[in-house]
Amino acid sequence: MDKLLVFVAFIISLSFVHCAPYECISNSTDEFEDSYVGLLISPVLSTETYREIEIYWNHAKYRVGDEIGLYTEKPRDDLEPIFIIHPDSQSGIVKTGIQADFIPTSNLTFTKQCLKYHVAWLRTGMVRKENCLKTQPTWMSDMKNILGRRRMRDLFLPGTHDSSAYAKTNFILPETLVTKYVITQDEDVLGQLIYGARYLDIRVGYYATEAIQWWGSHGLVAVVPFQTVIDDVKTFLNNTDEIVIFDVQEFPVGFGQDFTIHRKLVAYLEEQFADYIIPKSFGWSSTLDTIWSSGKKLIIGYDDHNVVGMFDSLWPSVTQQWGNVQKVDDLYDYLNKIETNALSSSKVNPRSAMAELTPKAWDIFLDRLGGLRKMAEDVDAKITMWYNTKWQHSANIVAVDFIKATGIVETALEWNERRFNSC
Ligand SMILES: *[C@@H]1O[C@H](CO)[C@@H](O)[C@H](O)[C@H]1NC(C)=O
Ligand SMILES: *[C@@H]1O[C@H](CO)[C@@H](O)[C@H](O)[C@H]1NC(C)=O
Ligand SMILES: *[C@@H]1O[C@H](CO)[C@@H](O)[C@H](O)[C@H]1NC(C)=O
Repeated sequence: MDKLLVFVAFIISLSFVHCAPYECISNSTDEFEDSYVGLLISPVLSTETYREIEIYWNHAKYRVGDEIGLYTEKPRDDLEPIFIIHPDSQSGIVKTGIQADFIPTSNLTFTKQCLKYHVAWLRTGMVRKENCLKTQPTWMSDMKNILGRRRMRDLFLPGTHDSSAYAKTNFILPETLVTKYVITQDEDVLGQLIYGARYLDIRVGYYATEAIQWWGSHGLVAVVPFQTVIDDVKTFLNNTDEIVIFDVQEFPVGFGQDFTIHRKLVAYLEEQFADYIIPKSFGWSSTLDTIWSSGKKLIIGYDDHNVVGMFDSLWPSVTQQWGNVQKVDDLYDYLNKIETNALSSSKVNPRSAMAELTPKAWDIFLDRLGGLRKMAEDVDAKITMWYNTKWQHSANIVAVDFIKATGIVETALEWNERRFNSC
C-alpha cells in the first residue's frame, strides 16, 4: 500500500478511536451533501424595507450556470421562481427585495411547518436541494433517539440574547434612540421557542410601586410584563416535549442590596412554574433522557450563586461568554478563541457564546453603530457561516439577536445530528 494511503488509514483509525461521534467518514458522491441554502429575514427596519427575505448559501462544488430560486410554494422543476440568483462564489447572502408576511404567533402551530417561502438550488433547471422558511417547535424531542443520552453541555443549542426585549408588530414603529438599542428580537418568547430557540436569556426588573411590578427588561428599560414571558414559556411547554433553559441572568432594576426581592422573584417563579421545574438535584450532568423521565421540562438558571444556594428550584446559571466588541472581525476573533478552548474543556455546565456586538455608551449616545438591527444584520449571516464551517464541533449554546436573521437553528440541528448519529 502506498504511504499516503497508510497514513490516511491511520488518521481514519485515530479519529474513530478518539472522537468517533464527531467524525463522519462519508464516501458519498453527492456534490450537494455538504452544501446548504436557506432563507433569512433581515432585521433591518426602514421606511423602504421591513422583513426583507435574504437567501444564503454555501456550496463548495457550485458550478457556473447553477441557479437559486425563491418560491411561494414547494419548488418543482417546472415551477417558475419569483426571484432568481446566479451564485458566482462558494458562499454568499443576497437580499431579494421581497418582504415576508407578518405572521402573528397565534398563527404558528406546534408542528413543524414551512411558512410560505421556499428556496431551491437548481442545476440544469432541476431542483437539487431545497429548504424553506420554517418553524422547529419539536426538534429536540424529534431527535430523542440520538440526543437522549447526551447532556445539555454536549448539544448545539440555539438561543436568543435578551429574549424578553422583543417588539413583534406588523406596523413600522418610528425608531427612537431607545428602541434602536433596546430591541433585540422581533419574535415574542413563544415565537422564539417555536422557531427553535431552547435557551432564553432573561433579565428581570422589579418596580415596587407600579401596578405591574415584574418586567422583562433590557438594561433600565422595562420592555414587556414578565407575566407575558412566563405565560409564553408555559404555553410552549404545555404543547411540546421540549426542554427549555430559562436563564435569569440580570436584575437591572429594583433588587437592592439584600435578598428580599430575589426571594420574592423566586417565590413568583416557583408558583408560576410549579408544574414544570426540574429540581437542581438533577444537575447539569443529567442526560436529556433523565430529564425527560422526570416529567418536567424547565431548567431555571439564576445568575447569583448565593440565591441559587437557597433554593432547590434554581440551577447555577449558564456561563455567558461575552466578547464585548464593536466590530465583526473582533467578534470572530473572540468566538474563535472560546470555541477553540471549548474543544479541550471537560466542564459540564453549559456555556453560551453571545454572538452579537456590544455598543458602548458613546456608541449609543452618538448612534455610531446604527442600532442593534443594523449591527445584527452585519453579524447574523456570518454567525451562520462560522458555525457551519468552523465551530460546528465545539458549539454549545449560541445566543443571537433577531433569531430569524440567522440560520443558527438549522445549523444547530444539522450538527447535532452529525455529532451524534453514528454514520
Ligand atoms: C461507501 O461506498 C460503498 C460502495 O458504494 C458502500 O457500500 C458503503 O456503504 C459506503 N460507506 C459509507 C460510509 O457511505
Ligand atoms: C393567520 O390566521 C388567520 C386566521 O386563520 C388567517 O385569516 C390569516 O390569513 C393568517 N395569516 C397569515 C399571515 O398566515
Ligand atoms: C398549561 O396547562 C395547564 C394544565 O393543563 C393549564 O392549567 C394551564 O392553563 C396551561 N397554561 C398555559 C399558559 O397554556
